[in-house]
Amino acid sequence: MRHFLNINALNKIDVLELIQRALELKAGAKPNYKSLTVSNLFFENSTRTHSSFQMAENKLGLQQIKIDPQSSSMSKGESLIDTLKTLKAIGVDIAVIRHSVTSWYDDVLNLEGHAIPQLVNAGDGSGQHPSQSLLDLVTIYEQFGHFSGLNIRIVGDLKHSRVARSNAEVLKNLGAKMTFSGPESWRPKDFEQFGEFVGIDQDWSQLDVVMFLRVQHERITQTENQTFLARQYHEQYGLNIARYEQLKEHAIIMHPAPVNRDVEIADELVESDKSRIFEQITNGVFARMAILEYVMEADNATD
Ligand code: CP
Repeated sequence: MRHFLNINALNKIDVLELIQRALELKAGAKPNYKSLTVSNLFFENSTRTHSSFQMAENKLGLQQIKIDPQSSSMSKGESLIDTLKTLKAIGVDIAVIRHSVTSWYDDVLNLEGHAIPQLVNAGDGSGQHPSQSLLDLVTIYEQFGHFSGLNIRIVGDLKHSRVARSNAEVLKNLGAKMTFSGPESWRPKDFEQFGEFVGIDQDWSQLDVVMFLRVQHERITQTENQTFLARQYHEQYGLNIARYEQLKEHAIIMHPAPVNRDVEIADELVESDKSRIFEQITNGVFARMAILEYVMEADNATD
């Protein structure tokens, strides 16, 4: 049984093959249809990831069993593992799950001898966001055709961002030179293994990709929320016109979205020439099709 939980658990060849497959699908390649059934369980709010998985599933011809965790028996106390066993017993082959608990899947995978659907991680707490990471890789590869030697900076709320955690490691392993900027209290020590923490403006004009992160108000402390000053944050760590104009001609701006306009990125720059934010969202559908195909490859169901 194959799950898709952490892009950094894949080897480099598998990651590059997923990127290629997403780009083939974007170019119109015939999807690998299977008569399988999928449930999307989103315990945290989502616009992009949820609808993008739904679109990917539609394009792959998957049947969807709709479950809203808030109105399911989980609201009566049923555990996630019992819910997954129930879905499998009903005939669900794949469960796409977003959950606020970091590494929620560890408990599920530790229970041996239980039949559960194949799992796809749609974002776990401050842990990993592997489908976002793949769509980011697709977007960068589409722009540059390689990762080796690219100067990539991730800016902002590194501590709470599963996007940053997924991307920092996989991009370093693919050969990018990673640097990080953001408020001191949001700099996770373990990111030092992936790259250097620098002031946002250091070597700014040498950057190929700047990835801004959403300030995760739902994960920062009450005190941090009460003392957060949007205008000050924007001046210190945001993309403004002055910074934009100093970027290289071919440099691109990325953000996983939703964007706090005028906080991480000035409103007028969200749709600027260098911005790939909406292309990232488009690429998300094809990245997720490639992920679902990858998961389904290990399934014995007939076409
Ligand atoms: N980027 C992202 O995960 O967006 P959603 O929270 O809207 O899914």
